[in-house]
Amino acid sequence: MAIAATAKLQEQFDAGLETRPDFTIDQPLERYGAVDHAVWDQLYRRQMALLEGRACEAFIEGAQRIGLNVAHVPDFEAVSERLMAATGWRIVAVPGLVPDRIFFEHLAHRRFPVTWWMRRPDQLDYLQEPDCFHDLFGHVPLLTDPVFADAIHAYGRAALAVDERALPLLARLYWYTVEFGLMRDTSGDASGETRATHGVKIYGAGIVSSKGESLYSVESDSPNRLAFDLERVLRTRYRIDTFQKTYFVIDSFAQLFDALGAGMAAHLADPAPLIAVEPYTAGDVLHGDTVYTRGTGEGWLEGGDV
Ligand SMILES: [Fe+2]
Repeated sequence: MAIAATAKLQEQFDAGLETRPDFTIDQPLERYGAVDHAVWDQLYRRQMALLEGRACEAFIEGAQRIGLNVAHVPDFEAVSERLMAATGWRIVAVPGLVPDRIFFEHLAHRRFPVTWWMRRPDQLDYLQEPDCFHDLFGHVPLLTDPVFADAIHAYGRAALAVDERALPLLARLYWYTVEFGLMRDTSGDASGETRATHGVKIYGAGIVSSKGESLYSVESDSPNRLAFDLERVLRTRYRIDTFQKTYFVIDSFAQLFDALGAGMAAHLADPAPLIAVEPYTAGDVLHGDTVYTRGTGEGWLEGGDV
């Protein structure tokens, strides 16, 4: 979700891409060059190899099901057709980050906005703005899962009903679930693989689209991994400039559906009390938390929470 017009967005307005009032454009397929296609191919193959055994099965299956395993930047129409057949969602091309309300409108109508342009070869490992790889590879595979798809739809609908003051709370919830969420791994009980990944699997888009965080989030001893609790997450600041200090771990997408829809709506019907309290910092562990792993804090930077 996001924010205001960025330099990249402005650049594209200047480049003559016709943007509709809902911020969508026609995916300008003719503007991709050989370098863009090579970057997609390289990132796709690298991340899929890395995510085997680390990301939840629904993600791996979803990426293949919507046809992301092509050696070029995917055609959004072709992806949409497959996604529509799975869960009734489609993707729409956008020039970049879109305003919050527009973003929620799209989600509430089962449309996921996907930035059309690809990062450069020197940005494979880190990019501040979401690009096509982050949006499409990171977010769209799980929209083939019926329960996850309904959870994002519910989030869009609930977010539209929430007043402006609560936007930072919505951003925290989205951040700690859709972008950086982990899920308990119930597949492998005491197997070596499960131990190596702290008993969790990745589902968040910000993790699956990042080589470094795909490893760190499940294998490092540094971060906290806490059981997801809706009110706790709504009250917790986060980091946008480093790997996360804390991950919140859900049990299932059904739990996510409850939290992102009815749960959020109920908590934010009157957001004043939640806005009034001082939020927790990104690295806090509280007395009431269910702690799966308590982080060593190694490498954490002080300050800088959003
Ligand atoms: Fe994202």
